Amino acid sequence: MFIPGVIFLLTSTTLANPVFEIIADDNNEDEYAGYRLPSHQNPSNYNLIITLNKELFDGTNVQFNGTIEITFSVDKEVDYVQLHAPMQIDEIEITPGDLKVTETTLNATTSILTILLSDFLSANIDYTMKIAYTNNIEEKSMLGLYRSSYVDEDDVTHYLLTTQFEPVHARQAFPCFDEPSYKATFTISLLYPKDQGLNAIGNTPIDGKPIIENDYERVIFEETPKMSTYLIAFIVSKYTCTQSQKIEQSLQHLICSRPESETTRILASDYSTKILEALGTFMDIKYSTMLVKKMTQAAIPDFNAGAMENWGLVTYRESSLLYDRDESSDMYKQGILLTIAHEFTHQWFGDYVTCDWWDNIFLNEGFATYFEFFILSRMDNLLTMETDKQFITGTQQLALQEDGTGNYKEITAKASSPAEIAAKFDIIAYNKAGSIIRMIENIITTEKFQTAMHNYLQSNAFSTASPKDLLSALEEQAPVSNLPSGITFSEVMDNWFNKPGYPLVTVSYDGENVVLKQDKFLYLGADSTTKWNIPITYTLSTDEIKFENVVPTDWLTTSSLTIPSLLKDNKAWIILNNQESAYYRVNYNKDLWDRIAAALMNNHTEIHVLNRAQIADDCLSIARAGLLKYSEAITILKYLTKEMDYYPWSSALNGLIFLVDKAGEDSELGVMIKNKILELMEGVYKTMSFGNDNSEHIYIIKRNLILRNACRFGHADCSSNSVSLFQSWKNNGIKVDRNLKSVVYCNGLRYSNNPEEDWNFLWEKHNSTKLSSELDLIEEALGCAKNMNILKKYLDLSLDESSGIRNQNIQSIWNGIVLRNSWGLQAVLEYLAEKHEKIRLSYPEVPSLLGTIANKISNSEQLEQFKQIIQSDGIDESYKAIGQKLIASTILNLGWLESNKDDLTNFLSDYQASKSPRLVTLSPIFLITFTSLKLFI
Ligand SMILES: *[C@@H]1O[C@H](CO)[C@@H](O)[C@H](O)[C@H]1NC(C)=O
Ligand SMILES: *[C@@H]1O[C@H](CO)[C@@H](O)[C@H](O)[C@H]1NC(C)=O
Ligand SMILES: *[C@@H]1O[C@H](CO)[C@@H](O)[C@H](O)[C@H]1NC(C)=O
Ligand SMILES: [Zn+2]
Repeated sequence: MFIPGVIFLLTSTTLANPVFEIIADDNNEDEYAGYRLPSHQNPSNYNLIITLNKELFDGTNVQFNGTIEITFSVDKEVDYVQLHAPMQIDEIEITPGDLKVTETTLNATTSILTILLSDFLSANIDYTMKIAYTNNIEEKSMLGLYRSSYVDEDDVTHYLLTTQFEPVHARQAFPCFDEPSYKATFTISLLYPKDQGLNAIGNTPIDGKPIIENDYERVIFEETPKMSTYLIAFIVSKYTCTQSQKIEQSLQHLICSRPESETTRILASDYSTKILEALGTFMDIKYSTMLVKKMTQAAIPDFNAGAMENWGLVTYRESSLLYDRDESSDMYKQGILLTIAHEFTHQWFGDYVTCDWWDNIFLNEGFATYFEFFILSRMDNLLTMETDKQFITGTQQLALQEDGTGNYKEITAKASSPAEIAAKFDIIAYNKAGSIIRMIENIITTEKFQTAMHNYLQSNAFSTASPKDLLSALEEQAPVSNLPSGITFSEVMDNWFNKPGYPLVTVSYDGENVVLKQDKFLYLGADSTTKWNIPITYTLSTDEIKFENVVPTDWLTTSSLTIPSLLKDNKAWIILNNQESAYYRVNYNKDLWDRIAAALMNNHTEIHVLNRAQIADDCLSIARAGLLKYSEAITILKYLTKEMDYYPWSSALNGLIFLVDKAGEDSELGVMIKNKILELMEGVYKTMSFGNDNSEHIYIIKRNLILRNACRFGHADCSSNSVSLFQSWKNNGIKVDRNLKSVVYCNGLRYSNNPEEDWNFLWEKHNSTKLSSELDLIEEALGCAKNMNILKKYLDLSLDESSGIRNQNIQSIWNGIVLRNSWGLQAVLEYLAEKHEKIRLSYPEVPSLLGTIANKISNSEQLEQFKQIIQSDGIDESYKAIGQKLIASTILNLGWLESNKDDLTNFLSDYQASKSPRLVTLSPIFLITFTSLKLFI
């Protein structure tokens, strides 16, 4: 599964970015508490027929029915069967033998149906259980079997039915043993109304031609390979499809979507087959050997996640697959290719070999995250996207940031209830696991890693795997000479997988010797109980070849390590962790930091661009943790005035924006920090153009980062350019360059002299486009308006079904308003106070929004307002518990700010006194983050 936050964070600089963030409690540490099916049952085949009646497709009814025949055996003689079936059961029949059903009970919490029988089942006989059932499709949740819709150019609404089963929603469509390890073959048959222009798509090709049966058309899909229930999918719609190149010259590959979006399938069609084949080549396992016999990719108008890897039928949000070459930006192109690569990786890691239980979802998502970047970076025609480098600032540094809060568990932490399972799809399973996989590749070398991947997949094909299976495949390949002596590969990896957090390595010296120490890194508090086996690479100022080697030359396996005779004179520098090849942070003593700062100032290009990004990320994070003064961290980064590369800027802005957010964007300190950032940015800003240039990919990404933030901090040239491009679009119909839209739409509105009229103009554009990437951009920009009434009207519209805003986007709209502007927080606080009843009814995700709000609070007045909302009489009880915790964490945040205030104020006012007049005029200064469409669940 692809969670949009993951990809959009790549192009943004910050999440909600709390200092202290309180995440849901976990009090259920032990066993699987009745949520797991008994292990003695073995389903082997499902034969499913689902009838989808006419009313489902004209939107007038929600009921459907089906019959399923499940072939299964048992290892133990018992007089019951247990499976997932949260639906109305019309009839059950078990054959062979004279078995009667005596009682059925459904546990509504676990969805487990217990079927008591009149007699015992014999071990090792194939039984067939036939169940007729009735259920309702889902509408709002976009889970299970659900309905989506779109309006065509003639204003006619069309409905379609589609599925999203991961992790625990196959059970809503048909009774099944809905756990990943119960792999079986499936033969699925669908009946849908005839003569309506409908067609059906499944995991496998349609067997023969559709058959007419009374009022229905009936299709049967070919039998699937042995697979997990959550990977089943089907769509019944009026979609049309575009043929992409055949896969391995033999299998059909289609890109499908609503008919009028046909021209936007071209990007996916051009690249998809190549990506799938590149993966097959890397793994040395061809896609055609997987037996799903085709690939279909389909774009769904209403979609909860970003995309889903159903075997042979990958589904996407429209904006994650469809691309208009004249309208959509290169950022979208990158997002689409990464998403395709992610889902295609799952065809191997997830579909072919599946995690044995949700505890180990990283075996799916960690690899999908890793290869999403590192398969594209291995494709010749995509090298300019530099996805291998983008992984560091986008994926790994984000993992370090979140994992450092102490709010996350270890990669392999247990999960049993559906809520716990949903919570496993987090930054740890995706970004941290992906980063650990890259670290493994660096330790054992790419060639050995590739062999290990092949062997792991081959030996667990059509089955499930545990971390042990992965480790043994890796251990077989790992060169002993690359490991610490006397420690096996599995032992090396133990704490990386099985402990939360990661280490901070502190570097100091004793004469010519370098001394390394390790502690756990935490933004708050200290904990030295965990020690990691840390692979050490480093570069010295005296090295001829710098930063190239990523294979460990030393191991820090205990509290400390001394490496002799490295620093030959008192200017010699050392930088650890070449290209950020391993998952840890590095701190230095004052003198060593000074030497690094001097080297950066002297000639920063001597230091690898990824290590410059690492230094920026590490020193600001270490300051946030209180182990370095912010004044010192910013002094180390003084060289940024000369920095022209994307990656260091991405890391530095992320850390600096955090500081602005916490200081409060309009506070005295906040304004001083923003001035400082603009000063640092002036050099790189000057190299940016507002022209329509078709420059290289990374320049486009960099320009977006720089302009977005310069405008956000009130850079005069940036804001006036945005306003004038917006106005010439509005007044003269001159379209904004596709790669500048996100900057111009937002800032044209934010700095508008006539916000109401300009907002209405943009809203009309919203209502007249059907291109999903354009809708996303406009919905984001509409929240930039500096006008309280407009924002409240926009919040109202977002909850109004007839407005054309889809449910899937409400959260990003609300988050955007809160995060983007200081008045946005105010607008949402007031709206919440006035309309909490309406909000609760139409937008159940409010609790997660409360977290975003609390994290944006930077002064005691805002905290007071927030408290009043939480404590008011009419407020929903469910908000109160969360709200109280958030109040506590906000108080901590404000305290954190106090402890950093004097240092920063002194540092920045000295600096301002010495060079004030040259600064750009900072009229109203407003913040922006184009962040997270959706936070992790
Ligand atoms: C349903 O299952 C849960 C988890 O095992 C259990 O706590 C609960 O008591 C069960 N409910 C009923 C009605 O049996
Ligand atoms: C299932 O639905 C179809 C169409 O509505 C109907 O003809 C059929 O009788 C239903 N079957 C059951 C078992 O309810
Ligand atoms: C800076 O370092 C780079 C890389 O080592 C080198 O190519 C370049 O010539 C140096 N620039 C100056 C001004 O010394
Ligand atoms: Zn995924």
